[in-house]
Amino acid sequence: MSVLVVGGAGYIGSHAAHFLKRSGQEVIIYDNLSNGHAELAEGFELIVGDIADSAKLAKVLPRVDAVMHFAAFAYVGESVTNPRKYFENNFVSALALLNAVVDSKVRKFIFSSTCATYGKPVKVPITEENPQRPVNPYGASKMAFEYALESYARAYGVRYVAFRYFNAAGADENGKIGEIHQPETHLIPCIFEAIHGERPALEIFGDDYPTPDGTCIRDYIHVTDLAEAHALGLAYLDSADSLALNLGTGKGYSVREVIATVERVTGRKVPVKMAPRRAGDPPELVADPRRAEQLLKWKAKYSLEQIVTTAWNWAEKERAKKK
Ligand code: UFG
Repeated sequence: MSVLVVGGAGYIGSHAAHFLKRSGQEVIIYDNLSNGHAELAEGFELIVGDIADSAKLAKVLPRVDAVMHFAAFAYVGESVTNPRKYFENNFVSALALLNAVVDSKVRKFIFSSTCATYGKPVKVPITEENPQRPVNPYGASKMAFEYALESYARAYGVRYVAFRYFNAAGADENGKIGEIHQPETHLIPCIFEAIHGERPALEIFGDDYPTPDGTCIRDYIHVTDLAEAHALGLAYLDSADSLALNLGTGKGYSVREVIATVERVTGRKVPVKMAPRRAGDPPELVADPRRAEQLLKWKAKYSLEQIVTTAWNWAEKERAKKK
């Protein structure tokens, strides 16, 4: 099978591209490099283009059997101050991509959705039936696209899996790809920056949440586990109908537990500082991953320790390169 990995020069997209290639699929990466990095697409055919560029897409789509769409902006805070950017890219431009797909012969589509579409969950662990009431424009932009997908599937026969990711983290064990965000806001790489003195301390955003140690709980899932689910999702679409699936481990860790794991894995002390709650952070987000496990015969394999270890190895290598 031949797959167009849109946003394949980004963090999660590049891991999916590498995973697909390793499992023998042909992969073409399509990325406008606005947030992506050409070095993450090394070893692949890279087409530099925007998801709104219908003419460019029309040329490449006849060469593939399926599309995976990772090209989105994903900073929750920025989406609050600049919702226009989020709805324009994550919905309007993404719809141009979906239109180009339905105008081609491609009928398999995998979409990176998010647990942010659930907003504040009514129950944890979160099942796919939890009402989708996003509390920020990022989640709303992803949810709008899920709605479009559902309608397009019914009307035009495109088949899709919308994967609702929990907290993607870690790096490929081959050491060649990993997380690069500018600026960095995600917990684990921020902890590494604090260890290296690149920020004065790791700010813990709130310790008065209704959780055992007062800090927020999240479900951290290794990017390679996410990538594997995407590959299985493609195969699933050969014989089954479109659907949305949570991708998480089913186990949550607090901010303090993540810091303790980093200290254990790296043998380094993390300087920390208490800070106020960050707007829009729900206290606890943990997936109920059973539907994905049953339907895809998939299960997240990486532990938090392995997530931290792979992320640390990658980050140390990148730091050494910059010296
Ligand atoms: N945190 C800190 N200090 C930091 C950074 C993060 O205390 O310096 C905390 C956050 O408050 C949160 C947890 O660590 O409780 C995880 O934060 P991240 O920023 O790493 O991840 P989020 O849970 O905010 O965001 C992730 C994805 C988003 C997605 C969201 C869904 O990165 O794309 O989950 O809620 F929208």
